[in-house]
Amino acid sequence: MHDLHLRYQIQANWTMAIRSRLCARFSLADMSRVLEVGSGTGVIAGELASIMHGSMYGLDIDAPATAYAKKNSPGPQYLVANALSLPFPTNSFDAALCHFLLLWVPSPQEVLAEMTRVTKSGGAVLALAEPDYGGRIDYPSSLIELGRQQTLALAAQGADPQIGRKLHALFSAAGLVEIQVGLLGGEWSGTPSSEEIDSEWTMLQSDLAHRVSDEDLDSLKQIDQDAWRKGSRILFVPTFYAHGRVP
Ligand SMILES: C[S@@+](CC[C@H](N)C(=O)[O-])C[C@H]1O[C@@H](n2cnc3c(N)ncnc32)[C@H](O)[C@@H]1O
Repeated sequence: MHDLHLRYQIQANWTMAIRSRLCARFSLADMSRVLEVGSGTGVIAGELASIMHGSMYGLDIDAPATAYAKKNSPGPQYLVANALSLPFPTNSFDAALCHFLLLWVPSPQEVLAEMTRVTKSGGAVLALAEPDYGGRIDYPSSLIELGRQQTLALAAQGADPQIGRKLHALFSAAGLVEIQVGLLGGEWSGTPSSEEIDSEWTMLQSDLAHRVSDEDLDSLKQIDQDAWRKGSRILFVPTFYAHGRVP
């Protein structure tokens, strides 16, 4: 679970700028009750609880991840439940948000309907980050196949690798108003830490174990690491955010 937590921390770093901007824009710190759906090991919920005056709640279907969150990301009230049936009354939160959740659920529309239901009229529903692997850019071109295989592996695990581009449609269909959808930018400077590269490759090796031979994976890893070292590597997975208000 600790490796997963480190992975989630790295992902949360990628999306920190937009999260800070949206927290300020919606004055999340001053809200009374905020819910993160799919809170995992508590990286985002814990961070938000530390800036909030009110109560932060984190909910996840994964009991071990939630137990880890209680211990290692204190602050929020955590519970184990399914996003498809949130165990809260209608109109009970000022905001409901998620971060890298919707790609993993079989019915994102039903999850958004639940997030909308539990949010008060005038409150905010936010998807802070959802990727779209359909727009992935890999350079050097010898790594394009790596991206293609990772996208296929995600789909085989039940994820929707193109969830990002669907956020606008999903938010509209949920009946939310004042919807805004955006895309996180990309910036490359320096080399990622060896911890970040190792974390990426631990995930790739587990995702691609049955799709790509060990030999090919080793060679792709070498190309990837050389490219990062030489300062020529570009890896860009378009990551969308969306927010709307409950009418
Ligand atoms: C990629 S993790 C993101 C965790 C956390 N939001 C973060 O960014 O650190 C996705 C989380 O969604 C949870 N999840 C997936 N389907 C769910 C469902 N139906 N109900 C509640 N949580 C769900 C998973 O258990 C996992 O912890």
